[in-house]
Amino acid sequence: MNNPLLSVENLSVTFNHQQRVVDDISFAIYPGETFVLIGESGSGKSITALSVLRLLPNNARLKASAISLQDDNLIKRSEFELCKIRGRRDASV
Ligand SMILES: Nc1ncnc2c1ncn2[C@@H]1O[C@H](COP(=O)(O)OP(=O)(O)O)[C@@H](O)[C@H]1O
Ligand SMILES: [Mg+2]
Repeated sequence: MNNPLLSVENLSVTFNHQQRVVDDISFAIYPGETFVLIGESGSGKSITALSVLRLLPNNARLKASAISLQDDNLIKRSEFELCKIRGRRDASV
């Protein structure tokens, strides 16, 4: 099987140093797949998507083992590097 286009491993997001709104989720999206994230209002869908591009509000703290776009672990990228990646690679895969 091909490598995933996007892989999220052990993602958690907390707000204001306490309220955990995403709790240790992992998923991978493979080429040609349609991925659907379903949950009731307030369950963390938008926060999960914003985490991938690291576009979370300032009061959010993200923790993850890896968030990899085509095997490039974005966790290790600086904000400057992410600016170049957003809208170019993310938007095209
Ligand atoms: N800026 C914020 N500060 C504090 N809590 C927030 C903030 N943004 C979202 N939340 C909380 O995070 C949780 C997940 O929100 P969200 O990802 O927007 O849900 P969904 O997209 O599934 O409706 C909710 O409980 C929401 O109240
Ligand atoms: Mg939403």
